[in-house]
Amino acid sequence: MTLASTPSAGATWPSWVLLVATVLVSGLLIAGPALRRHYPMAWWLLLGFPVVVFRVTYTWRALMAGCGLAVSRRPALTVVSGLVGNGAPPPQPRVPRRGLIRPTAGGFWLLVRLLPGQVPEDFVKSAPAMAEDWQVHAVRVTSWKPGLVRIAASMADPLASPRVPKQRGPGYLLRVAVGTLETGAAWVMDLRRIPHWLIVGATRSGKSTLINALVAGLAPQPVALVGIDCKGGMELSLYEPRLSALATNRGQAVKLLAELVDLTLDRMTVCRTARVRNIWGLPEKERPVPVVVIVDEIAELFLIASRNEKDEAHAAGTALIRLAQLGAALGVFLVVAGQRVGSDLGPGVTALRAQLGGRVCHRVADPGTAEMALGDLNPDALKAAQAITPEQAGTAVLASGDGWERARSHLTTEADAEAIAAEYAHLTPVLPALLDSEK
Ligand SMILES: Nc1ncnc2c1ncn2[C@@H]1O[C@H](COP(=O)(O)OP(=O)(O)O)[C@@H](O)[C@H]1O
Ligand SMILES: [Mg+2]
Repeated sequence: MTLASTPSAGATWPSWVLLVATVLVSGLLIAGPALRRHYPMAWWLLLGFPVVVFRVTYTWRALMAGCGLAVSRRPALTVVSGLVGNGAPPPQPRVPRRGLIRPTAGGFWLLVRLLPGQVPEDFVKSAPAMAEDWQVHAVRVTSWKPGLVRIAASMADPLASPRVPKQRGPGYLLRVAVGTLETGAAWVMDLRRIPHWLIVGATRSGKSTLINALVAGLAPQPVALVGIDCKGGMELSLYEPRLSALATNRGQAVKLLAELVDLTLDRMTVCRTARVRNIWGLPEKERPVPVVVIVDEIAELFLIASRNEKDEAHAAGTALIRLAQLGAALGVFLVVAGQRVGSDLGPGVTALRAQLGGRVCHRVADPGTAEMALGDLNPDALKAAQAITPEQAGTAVLASGDGWERARSHLTTEADAEAIAAEYAHLTPVLPALLDSEK
């Protein structure tokens, strides 16, 4: 009896599944728009993602062939199959094998194995075509392991409304989470890893906001902050209670920079006497306090109107370059922001730029500035920087020796900045070497 009933149960089973699936899918489709509005994550996992998986799977072969990523079979094999295949179509070209498509909060990723003769750059070039084909916001291709690339797609710009919380508490020395990376991870500026930074961008592109975020993160740490803001101190004076020194015009700036160079040279003597290579090699009690020098609007230091100013500009440039060359080992760090960093500002600027290893490029007014900031890096980084719109203030392309990334700073308002400076004013180190510059 049991044996007889088994086949009939087996026959009804698929129709049930079909019915339930139909009800579920139509329910989801009807409720889709509401679900998307109220529970975007659930919508993505239940509906958006399966549709995308279908699209990627369905178009994979054609896409690879269209992008020139398919490799034809050996000609001999094609001939043989033509002879013995009795009119069957010749074998299809080989396409790169892909792994499972995995969902992320705002997109998906997959691994792809390269075919012989392929390099990751072949896939990087095809990223825009993939984005069009899959109807997603953007596709990024990175090398995963030898022979494997990782393709990550995002459905919408993850930086449009970043959700990473701001850093609380002091954190690690000289490390500040200043914003969100495109991947959703925290954007951390680590001055011990990359000591000097260049921040460029047009007016109102987010330079000062990034500096605010950085200063807000450094304020609770045992570091000295020094400001140079030659636009009359409009931006950095907010932080005055927490600054060990602030220069608000070029005369003061030149003096302050000269004192900083002296301070650095003194530290060098200390290190040499103790026979250590940098201040981190000194015992903790004797270690001088790290100094972060922030320059808002570098052009104000360099642009000159008269002959007299030329000497000042030259002195400022030379001092900054010295600081950059010597500072990293001696605990002096530079963060320089400006609208332009071209050689039109003077010969010193190019030399200074070469010393600033970390680069942040916000929206720029002209392609030349992006090129100067991001240098001879990947051309994709330049394109990404030029694509930033005025609505996306705070969005930037970051570049250092290891590659590039898109990110957005935490919005730190002027009120936040003032409150933080007041809260941590008691931590402001006194640097006797810098005291007389404010007079
Ligand atoms: N990360 C950000 N998120 C949201 N809005 C931002 C962000 N950065 C900047 N903005 C907006 O852009 C405006 C101008 O930014 P600001 O930092 O003053 O630009 P800049 O110093 O380059 O002239 C800010 O007042 C703010 O409204
Ligand atoms: Mg500004």
